[in-house]
Amino acid sequence: MQHNSRSVVSNQPGPHQDLARRVGRALAHPLRKPIAEHTQRNFAHAAEWFARRQAPLVLDSGCGVGVSTRQLALQFPSHAVIGVDRSEDRLGRDHGELPANALLVRADLVDFWRLAYQAGWAPEYHYLLYPNPYPKAGHLKMRWHGHAVLPTLLALGGRLELRSNWSIYVEEFALAVAQVTGKQATTTALAPKGDYLTPFEAKYAQSGQALWRLSVDLPRT
Ligand SMILES: C[S@@+](CC[C@H](N)C(=O)[O-])C[C@H]1O[C@@H](n2cnc3c(N)ncnc32)[C@H](O)[C@@H]1O
Repeated sequence: MQHNSRSVVSNQPGPHQDLARRVGRALAHPLRKPIAEHTQRNFAHAAEWFARRQAPLVLDSGCGVGVSTRQLALQFPSHAVIGVDRSEDRLGRDHGELPANALLVRADLVDFWRLAYQAGWAPEYHYLLYPNPYPKAGHLKMRWHGHAVLPTLLALGGRLELRSNWSIYVEEFALAVAQVTGKQATTTALAPKGDYLTPFEAKYAQSGQALWRLSVDLPRT
């Protein structure tokens, strides 16, 4: 079946000129916004679940309906796999039973990552699958690499994998990773053949869009 998902349209011809300044600002001014109470509660519940499992952690940040969380749980049967999304609607859709080593959590990642960091979490693998691109140049600060939470997200460490259908997002993320950590991420084209990890991946691939994968090994700092 041919899907018609439009490619990302942006008024940016390449990486944003203000990126390095924004990342510098995030490094100089750690985020102080108070943590929402419901995220605190949901994190506490996740932390109890995780502590019981006594297994290395896989984070699926921005998991949407949790299809990828389920797949990752099967791929990493000896890990605890936590999918996080702020959309109750998406998390509530029925995509079959969750494997015993998977958990879905409703939370804003800006708060969740900070709580995870404070709690000493150190994911072995961290997936950021098809984050919202916010392609307008004026929306740089809403992309994860333009956000003040970036240093915390990277400080969690582990093998970080980002996937996107917008090559500039991936390029910018790699530049931001290098600026914060000194690490050079690897970027490759992704060519799934029906083995889609997420619904967005399926939608983009089936409409013929190029997909990109960035991968980098980060220390827990
Ligand atoms: C484009 S969708 C991709 C979903 C899924 N990873 C996939 O590929 O099918 C982006 C997801 O990120 C979630 N998201 C965006 N900002 C978030 C935030 N600050 N905290 C938690 N989830 C967020 C949205 O609710 C949405 O489900």
